Amino acid sequence: MKKIVVFLLSLLMGTLAFGERIALIGAMDSEIELLKKDIKNIKSEKIGEIEYFQGKLEGKDIVLLKTGVGKVNAAIGANTVIREYKVDKIVFTGVAGAIDNSLNIADIVVSEDLVQHDVDLTAFGRPAGLIPGQETVEFKADEKLKKVAYDSAVKVLGKDKVKIGRIATGDQFIASKDKVNWIGKTFNASAVEMEGAVVAQVAKTYGVPFVVLRAMSDKADGSATMVYEEFEILAADNSAKIVKEMLKNM
Ligand code: ADE
Repeated sequence: MKKIVVFLLSLLMGTLAFGERIALIGAMDSEIELLKKDIKNIKSEKIGEIEYFQGKLEGKDIVLLKTGVGKVNAAIGANTVIREYKVDKIVFTGVAGAIDNSLNIADIVVSEDLVQHDVDLTAFGRPAGLIPGQETVEFKADEKLKKVAYDSAVKVLGKDKVKIGRIATGDQFIASKDKVNWIGKTFNASAVEMEGAVVAQVAKTYGVPFVVLRAMSDKADGSATMVYEEFEILAADNSAKIVKEMLKNM
């Protein structure tokens, strides 16, 4: 009897998982390229200025999109993919500037949580980063997705190159020692980028589980623009490879 119940439960869970659709989001071509080229039965649709690619990747139903850079683009893409495609999970993939000194170029940060470093109502005595109407500064990633992301990243790159940490988002490319130090100190963040916390906020609004993966393209200091240009593709590909590994385990 117990065996039959276990069998039926696993069948049911399999059916539920089978019906899932996963959104894969990047901001730039470099961040989605490696994923896009391997999608099977690809169909695309343009809504507004964003193209949404549907199909199968690693046997999973996915919708892939490039939002464009920055917070508003990220909000448009995340909102649309949730509302129009009814996705069950969101994985964001891309590059970031390293804040944590122990991170090297191409290393990965898996989001523990995310904050918006450019939100500032401190004039009203509110904590830096707190958006009116939200209870906390940070948006927490889904525990299960975080674990799959971490395990997949360790499998692809090795333990030394992967960290779980806080990711700070803002509408600025950070390329100054003072600014990166301020973001690190104020928010205790490991990496800085321009979209993740917005996707997190939209996902939270609709109760959709999410995780953000970022590979380090630079150190967000005075050398950031030059280093970024050299390592953008290497870093973006590292993150995308991990997303593919994740899909095998979701
Ligand atoms: N994405 C990659 N590097 C970045 C930086 N230094 N600042 C903001 N976003 C980034």
